[in-house]
Amino acid sequence: MKGIILAGGKATRLYPATKVISKHLLPIYNKPMIFYPLSTLMLAGIQDILVISNPKDLSLYRDLLGDGHLFGVNISYKEQPEPKGIAQAFIIGQEFIANESCCLILGDNLFFGSSFEKNIKYASSNNNGASIFAYRVDKPESYGVIEFDSSMNAISIEEKPKSPKSKFAVTGLYFFDNNVIEIAKGISPSKRGELEITDINMTYLENKKMKVIKLGTGTAWLDTGTHESLVDASSFVRTIENRQGIPIGSPEATAYSQGWINSAQFEVLIEDYPENQDYKKLLKKYIEYK
Ligand code: G1P
Repeated sequence: MKGIILAGGKATRLYPATKVISKHLLPIYNKPMIFYPLSTLMLAGIQDILVISNPKDLSLYRDLLGDGHLFGVNISYKEQPEPKGIAQAFIIGQEFIANESCCLILGDNLFFGSSFEKNIKYASSNNNGASIFAYRVDKPESYGVIEFDSSMNAISIEEKPKSPKSKFAVTGLYFFDNNVIEIAKGISPSKRGELEITDINMTYLENKKMKVIKLGTGTAWLDTGTHESLVDASSFVRTIENRQGIPIGSPEATAYSQGWINSAQFEVLIEDYPENQDYKKLLKKYIEYK
């Protein structure tokens, strides 16, 4: 299975913070935002990863993550010339996906929780059809919203509806079989001129090829599109990391716990981080007591 991180868009809701800095490089507490989706893909066992971003920002991601070998993964990069929708990622990534299945994660989505780990491992082991995740939120109108029938089977998904038919949002993490490339090529741009991920999801749903996995109350799903949600996500990470001493959204720690790098390689990976720095201390403590 291949993994794509989509780190595009203009992030105008975060202006002026994003006027010169790409949104997905802004810090969530102690690490750049893109570390969180990267470590989610790694947690799902995915080692071939494509980062898609704007032409202006792509080199910054390359400087930050390199070819991924220090994290025990392969990272490649491709431009999205203009923000033409999430579904365009499958057309841009066609050669990269080749004939495999594919997981897409949005660069601003943060997931955490032990049952979440089980859920993504289950989704990534399924190479037929699609799997998406439903998460209860108080304000579903900002998201893709799932409608369920009386037996709790998903029957429709609407993108940012004015009158949501449920409280369940579609998260920015999607698993698709290889048909997603052809489906993406076949959909038309929406009124806002974008290829919508919701149209891809609806195609799988109508073909009865869609699994909707509900993430329970023990799982955290945070997105970081506004100033407020950015602060909320930072406080959440700070609270859990300080209390438990376990790094959240850390590609270094995930590479180590997946067994993709050993302790000597882990030392090399963090050797550039200044000695007295909190994130380095957290990582060192983590592998010492793991
Ligand atoms: C996108 C999708 C939406 C999904 C959300 C999850 O919205 O279009 O269906 O619920 O991501 O983060 P955006 O955040 O790009 O507005």
